[in-house]
Amino acid sequence: MDKTLDGKKLADMLNSELTDKINKTFKETGTRPGLATILVGQNTASQVYVNIKHKTCAQVGLKSIKIELDENISKDNLIQVIYDLNKRTDIHGILLQLPLPSNLRPDTPLFLGEISFHKDVDGFHPINRGKLFDYDESLAPCTPKGIIALLEHYDVELKGKDVTIINRSNLLGKPLFLMLLKRDATVSVCHTSTKNIERYMKQADILILGVGKPRFVTGDTIKEGSIIIDAGINRVEGKLCGDVDFDDVIDKCSKITPVPGGVGPLTVSFLLQNTYFAFLKQLKLV
Ligand SMILES: NC(=O)c1ccc[n+]([C@@H]2O[C@H](COP(=O)([O-])OP(=O)(O)OC[C@H]3O[C@@H](n4cnc5c(N)ncnc54)[C@H](OP(=O)(O)O)[C@@H]3O)[C@@H](O)[C@H]2O)c1
Repeated sequence: MDKTLDGKKLADMLNSELTDKINKTFKETGTRPGLATILVGQNTASQVYVNIKHKTCAQVGLKSIKIELDENISKDNLIQVIYDLNKRTDIHGILLQLPLPSNLRPDTPLFLGEISFHKDVDGFHPINRGKLFDYDESLAPCTPKGIIALLEHYDVELKGKDVTIINRSNLLGKPLFLMLLKRDATVSVCHTSTKNIERYMKQADILILGVGKPRFVTGDTIKEGSIIIDAGINRVEGKLCGDVDFDDVIDKCSKITPVPGGVGPLTVSFLLQNTYFAFLKQLKLV
């Protein structure tokens, strides 16, 4: 039995549906959704992620512009770049690639708060975070959205299930907690101060990882028949892998996401879905 939760296949399907929608609205309005990414500094991983986002935008017919800034840009100048993008009518989504260089990093919440919440396609603005608290997921963070879409696509029942998330970040664990709660799951959120973390892993019907540590999860630490969602991205000896020792858990789990080809492509796909939604909203089409 194939146990794979194929995120790549689902992302391809969603991207293809989005292409049709974008072409249709282009015929009707003469406009395409526009996404601007802001990359500050020379972080190699960030450059790779931003390039993947632009490549996928081009594939679905979404206009995108890349703004690359020197790592020594002042706080005020970065805010001015954001204001200029907020005003542009051809740009409907703005993404500030994180992490920022160390000199600007402490002000990350300030910069995220300066992006118009209408254009906040990463779902990090305080208003969109607040909306998520009321279970409004319209501009919610992309990785949790992708995980929920994958579970729903494979008809994984969430109601009443014990779900453990190992990650409490703003981009993954916290928003995902709310999305799972909305769907009636019972959710434990674990982190570095969690005592006896194996207890939470072993009780989980669905175990979701975003730790950033290869082989954090092995066959001994999961429940028989559980579903494993591995959002971790690590590089070991030049190869990408997640947080789960895939070969060690495959016999014991019932379903699992591969790395690569699991959560990653869905994160990009939901960035584009969010941009399309922001576009429709700004054109008053929804
Ligand atoms: N697939 C995707 O699209 C995607 C998207 C985003 C992130 N990621 C990946 O997901 C991972 C996490 O990303 P992030 O930005 O959320 O990173 P992060 O902010 O560093 O979060 C890591 C989380 O793991 C927890 N953690 C770390 N070591 C632990 C340990 N030994 N025991 C228990 N908890 C532990 C941390 O706990 P504390 O809060 O206590 O520090 C934190 O909550 C990375 O590998 C990243 O590349 C993938």
